[in-house]
Amino acid sequence: MRAVAIDGSWESWRDAARGLLAEGALPGDVVFCDPTASGDLFSGPPLPVPAPTGVLKVPRRFLDEARYVAHHRSATRWGLLYRVLHRLTHGEAELLANGLDPDVHRLRALSKEVHRDAHKMHAFVRFRRVGGDDDAEAHYIAWHRPDHLIVPLVTPFFVGRFASMRWAILTPDRSVSWDGVTARFTDGVPRSAAPSGDELEELWRTYYASIFNPARLKVGHMRGEMPKKHWATLPEAALIPTLVHEASGRAAEMVKKSTSNGSAAAFVPEGASLEVLREASKRCRACPLHESATQTVFGEGLGGARVVLVGEQPGDEEDKQGHPFVGPAGKMLDKALAAAGIARSEVYVTNAVKHFKWRPMGKRRLHQKPDGGEIEACKPWLFAELRLVKPDLIVALGASAAQSLLGKTVTVARDRGQRLASPSGDVIVSYHPAAILRAPDDDARDAMFELLVEDLRLVRKVLAA
Ligand code: URA
Repeated sequence: MRAVAIDGSWESWRDAARGLLAEGALPGDVVFCDPTASGDLFSGPPLPVPAPTGVLKVPRRFLDEARYVAHHRSATRWGLLYRVLHRLTHGEAELLANGLDPDVHRLRALSKEVHRDAHKMHAFVRFRRVGGDDDAEAHYIAWHRPDHLIVPLVTPFFVGRFASMRWAILTPDRSVSWDGVTARFTDGVPRSAAPSGDELEELWRTYYASIFNPARLKVGHMRGEMPKKHWATLPEAALIPTLVHEASGRAAEMVKKSTSNGSAAAFVPEGASLEVLREASKRCRACPLHESATQTVFGEGLGGARVVLVGEQPGDEEDKQGHPFVGPAGKMLDKALAAAGIARSEVYVTNAVKHFKWRPMGKRRLHQKPDGGEIEACKPWLFAELRLVKPDLIVALGASAAQSLLGKTVTVARDRGQRLASPSGDVIVSYHPAAILRAPDDDARDAMFELLVEDLRLVRKVLAA
């Protein structure tokens, strides 16, 4: 067995491996000796590193994975890397494509563990200010306990982030300090060597509380992402129980705020044409419905129509296609319009709410009635459409449209078929085509359909006048 001395760095292994390959050394004949290994893997003093020779062609993918594996704590990593490298360069060029191969499997597993550890170090290192009151004198120290030997691997990240600060990151295995120009690596230090408690902690706590989004809270995920062993060095960890406790209340408040105080007014361009409004509506974020909808479904039809039909909100099909009343309710509406002698091309069709509100039910998206806040938030779009189309008559199909146009006091059962005054013009309230589709039986469905047609005949008269 041949013992080869390396200094524990990726670069030293890489150079040694190139020399060994050039010499034809077989993986089974070599053991790498580094200061992080236990020391009893070989007997006798390690030999000097063979000098690298020639150009070695290895897949980029191996180098990417190997660089991470080199920072793993496993004592067998160097041997694994050399074995894989040897196989890659001795007739198994496609080896890495075989995830079932034990060496490839292990390579990937180690690489993944180091990736994860590096990600956590990027996220959980917290610097504390030490030294001089003068900012020019100040420097910053962090203590962290990574699972693997990743200090050299993550150093470029911290140098990039905090290039103008003077800082040190201490870990039990290795430390690094940055003076604004050079990164220096030194031995590891115990936890007690890092100062604790300072002005930055309070600042960080306040910042964390302000960026903490209760609506996104997933406690299990948070615990997984912020393992307990890091809590001691994270000032915000002290806040977590309180924040978790308050989260549901704060989330409800956020939803309330975003639905009842939100208004599309800020998104509606002044003096715009219908086309410009339609474009602008695509960017509306006035209420949370845009988050789960595929797209905004704006009104469509004759620009100067004498009649505007207002529905509730786009349904599943409308959401996918981006046009109002094209799904089952649209077909029912077309049937009623035809029965009343009205062509769809004669009217303008829109909705009180421009995004589809739904909840998942298995693989289906189940329609959800918009609430008062969402109807209110969307009003500026509807009113802008009505100001431009200037209809003689507006038909409110169902309760949500009636609420948007006339307020909450109107009910379909009591007020349907009557001509009511609204700030946007005269309104007739009638049944929503979807309510007809949901009727409990054929008789009820036929009766509701007849009433809708009756109301639309009034519309016919307006169009004919
Ligand atoms: N229901 C509505 O209220 N509007 C549509 O566009 C489709 C279904």
